[in-house]
Amino acid sequence: MPDSGTYTEPRIRVDVLFGAAARTTALFDETFWSLRERPKQISPKWLYDERGSVLFDEITRLPEYYPTRAERAILRERASEIAELTGAATLVELGSGTSEKTTLLLDAHYAGGTLERFVPFDVSEEILIQAAEAVAARYDGVCVHAVVGDFEQHLSSLPAGSPRLLAFLGSTIGNLYPEQRARFLSRLAGVLEPDDRLLLGVDLVKCPARIEAAYNDSAGVTEAFVRNVLTVLDRELESRFDPAAFGYEARWDAEHEWVEIGLRSLRQQVIPLPALDVEVAFAAGELLRVEVSSKFRREGIEAELAGVGLEVGEFWTDPAGDFGLLLAAPAASSSETR
Ligand code: SAH
Ligand code: TRP
Repeated sequence: MPDSGTYTEPRIRVDVLFGAAARTTALFDETFWSLRERPKQISPKWLYDERGSVLFDEITRLPEYYPTRAERAILRERASEIAELTGAATLVELGSGTSEKTTLLLDAHYAGGTLERFVPFDVSEEILIQAAEAVAARYDGVCVHAVVGDFEQHLSSLPAGSPRLLAFLGSTIGNLYPEQRARFLSRLAGVLEPDDRLLLGVDLVKCPARIEAAYNDSAGVTEAFVRNVLTVLDRELESRFDPAAFGYEARWDAEHEWVEIGLRSLRQQVIPLPALDVEVAFAAGELLRVEVSSKFRREGIEAELAGVGLEVGEFWTDPAGDFGLLLAAPAASSSETR
């Protein structure tokens, strides 16, 4: 596999914008700073190496993890309506992972006769290629143009193909911090053509006990997923984190309305990071924040989208009101000034 560039198989094209070398540079750069911040933190995109992607897939099937089932229920109910509303020729999926739920959207657009191309976009190359192959095999005549990229950096390189439907599912948007999210949404709005639509999945604020349970499953899969980040750091930074010296934690933060997910240092410790030629010191009880998972309210996310010139047309939820799926379009005024 080349580090960057394009390679092609019949009906599958893969653009690598974020290959092994770029990934290593970015990881060095980010962790050098983020492990000195307060709290110390790690970007969630490093969670999804091959093992991380497999563990995440297991999370989506856990009894406590309601978001995937809730979002799938909405998609099952609304996919045909979405296909009619968008008439999309190109379906782009950001943070696509296995693209498992996306099959519902692909089926609907395929049946509607508009679908020409699927563009799965993810940092995790292994899972992306598997998903690309599965989709190419399932839909005759549909081209798959996979992009290995970072959706915080490479949105300007999204393939054209109007009209496009950009799907961003799984409440992955909630894993960006508010400032990052604002920057991401503004860039996203900037690359949307007037006919393009955004389909965004957001997990909604609800009873904290249910939210916390979704990140503290009894089988310990979520804990294994989060702990895997230490393995990633050991491999990339040549460190030797002692897993037993960290405790897993996922707690609802009512002020920020997010789940703070991380690993708490159980003792004072200094960890050399040979690849960066630095060491990081943890106090006893200090948190290494691995991820936040923000939960949303309809008014809040609609206002954020309006702030970047995107207008929400439809907002659907599952029957229990746990999860929201919205369809947004560039507001008329913002497309006129383009
Ligand atoms: N969309 C799927 C997967 C969600 S998990 C679902 O709804 O179940 C989040 C996915 O986003 C992972 O596959 C991960 O590799 C990818 N991801 C995380 N950060 C990313 C980034 N900065 N750029 C591109 N993909 C990213
Ligand atoms: N977007 C998912 C969410 O916020 C990602 C996720 C699920 C996750 N389980 C996790 C991230 C556990 C970190 C740890 O729900």
